[in-house]
Amino acid sequence: MDDAYFGNKAFCINQRRYLGSKTKLLKFIDDILQKENIEFESFADIFAGTGVVANHFYNRSRVIVNDILDSNNHVYRAFFGRDEIREDKLKERLKLYNTLDLKIYGDNYFSENFSNTYFDAINSKRIGFIRDDIEKIFEEKIITDRERSYLLTSLIYALDRIANTVGHYDAYRKISIPKKRLFLLPLDIKNSEYSAEIYKEDANELVKRIKADVVYIDPPYNSRQYSDAYHLLENIATWKKEEVYGVAKKIIRSHIKSKYNMKAAGVAFGELINNIDAKYILVSYNDMGGSGNARSQSRISDHEILSALKRKGKVQIYETDFKQFTTGKSLKDDLKERIFLCKVDFATKTQKSVTASKRNPVQNGFIKSPLNYTGGKHKLLPQIIKLFPNGIKTFYDVFAGSANVGINVTAENIICIEKNRYVINLLKLIQRNNFDELNQRLIEIIGKFGLSQSYINGYSYYDADSSAGLGQFNKTAFLELRNEFNKTKTRIDLLLVLILYSFNNQIRFNSKGDFNLPVGKRDYNGSSRKNIAAFNQITNEKVITFKECDFRDIENFEISKDDFVYLDPPYLLGLASYNEMGGWTERDENDLYSLLTRLDKRGIRFALSNVLAHKGETNEIMNKWVNENKFIMHKLDYHYKNSNYHSTAKNNKTIEVLITNY
Ligand SMILES: C[S@@+](CC[C@H](N)C(=O)[O-])C[C@H]1O[C@@H](n2cnc3c(N)ncnc32)[C@H](O)[C@@H]1O
Repeated sequence: MDDAYFGNKAFCINQRRYLGSKTKLLKFIDDILQKENIEFESFADIFAGTGVVANHFYNRSRVIVNDILDSNNHVYRAFFGRDEIREDKLKERLKLYNTLDLKIYGDNYFSENFSNTYFDAINSKRIGFIRDDIEKIFEEKIITDRERSYLLTSLIYALDRIANTVGHYDAYRKISIPKKRLFLLPLDIKNSEYSAEIYKEDANELVKRIKADVVYIDPPYNSRQYSDAYHLLENIATWKKEEVYGVAKKIIRSHIKSKYNMKAAGVAFGELINNIDAKYILVSYNDMGGSGNARSQSRISDHEILSALKRKGKVQIYETDFKQFTTGKSLKDDLKERIFLCKVDFATKTQKSVTASKRNPVQNGFIKSPLNYTGGKHKLLPQIIKLFPNGIKTFYDVFAGSANVGINVTAENIICIEKNRYVINLLKLIQRNNFDELNQRLIEIIGKFGLSQSYINGYSYYDADSSAGLGQFNKTAFLELRNEFNKTKTRIDLLLVLILYSFNNQIRFNSKGDFNLPVGKRDYNGSSRKNIAAFNQITNEKVITFKECDFRDIENFEISKDDFVYLDPPYLLGLASYNEMGGWTERDENDLYSLLTRLDKRGIRFALSNVLAHKGETNEIMNKWVNENKFIMHKLDYHYKNSNYHSTAKNNKTIEVLITNY
């Protein structure tokens, strides 16, 4: 191909208008690394935007480049991709695009939707035609995946030069459209001896899987969504020919909205930092303070940035003067661009965060339910599960409560049965939502009521310490939340937050059916997040169903001999707090034994948890029933690790047992 046609001109990666682009700050970033003698073999740019930062280090390091937008991803695939490209062939195609005689072609998706908006009618027709052709020759396998990204990148860079905008697509200028002609150029691709990994993911998810010596973080600063500012490029990149809306002609963008433009950005940032596996973390973030309009105010406070980074290591802040590229009018000359450098402590580097460790969130080898039930079986699980048979088809966890047993057993199918509607709805809420979305929802409620977030801010922020807890700070907000929930008793997400902040994280309703526990010492902290995340994951990995019904109704299920029924009823001896509304009577106790006797006659195996002795009293009804039916009573030791059964039984006020019919 004769390069004279393009006059040796080509698009460089940094020749693009992009909000927050760091093209002019590359030296500043590089100087920090040099001054600190930071040596690195891998550099991850996880909010890469144009990709210029990763590109800057690509000549001396392996790079990881990521952004949530498709349009940016194509740019990375073109500039950082490793697959061979046939440049001559691509240049020929670009020339063809530049010299097209459009008169012979009709309108297309792009010209129909965008003529005389961001582009005039002629350019719009050309853009639409070129984009259609790129897709066509890709589908016909005339070009490869990277070659498609190459042509698309050239189109994106070319249209950016002629768009009738101030650099983004929130709006177009209402003045007459300048008659610049679309002209595509080849790309100036710098080959590197290093490798590049390219991703299009939420950075918070990506960091759980990657590792790099330096991780550079340049998130959006304010409420302006990049998916709004660059919707037109996303439309072109994805080319689904979707319907467009409003004066700005935007496609639906809910799936590419960033948490970093929302109120909970600080929380997302905290989680991101926790999950990073790196030696050094660099964060670009400007405190926009009160400058500009409401949209340009920063979403993450300095306190949030510093507290998240300080959990990882030592932090320094670098500043430089910088003219921010904004929408033009609100440009401020005295803006300082800041970079936070965190040198990660080796000891904390390997610290696993909530979500990274959610795959293995076990304490005694078992997952712990986020609901805390009096008489919950988590502590006794190792002893109980050991006594269950192997090869269970359907496992029934009757009186499931927190479901600690159900979620930890191995069976083809697990059915957790519980009479308390709230409990079932809480378990379903955690099971059926995407963890990140649920987490977000809980954080929004916490924010709305002004409850503490020690996970982000620590205890001292609330004038509290770990032993006194957060009750004092949370008391008023907690009561407001409790009133709000009790008004309708339908918002289970409010109930979940209530439980997270209530006394010992328990569940208790009074005789009127109102939630009536007082505020507790703890809040939605690391371990409760971990437990919710783990519960969400395990209940989606296993086949688990939560059913609201009375224990007597299990006879309506088709229980077979391959199945197994585990029951953990309220105990006649000692009243559990969840039992205050409704109570457990001798009649219930007798119904339970009759039911189990019938199951036994049908050859169905069961195991019943109970208390044989408590504070000097013995459950005689149970003792008699066990002896009459020749069932086996396994005595469990609550203080298993510390002593043997015989030495503790005498002193122990409570004897926990598991009764089995096998
Ligand atoms: C300030 S810009 C980055 C600018 C970039 N450093 C440059 O020089 O061009 C922020 C980028 O983060 C991306 N982004 C926003 N939320 C994200 C998320 N959750 N995960 C990954 N990227 C995200 C946006 O699409 C945007 O391109």
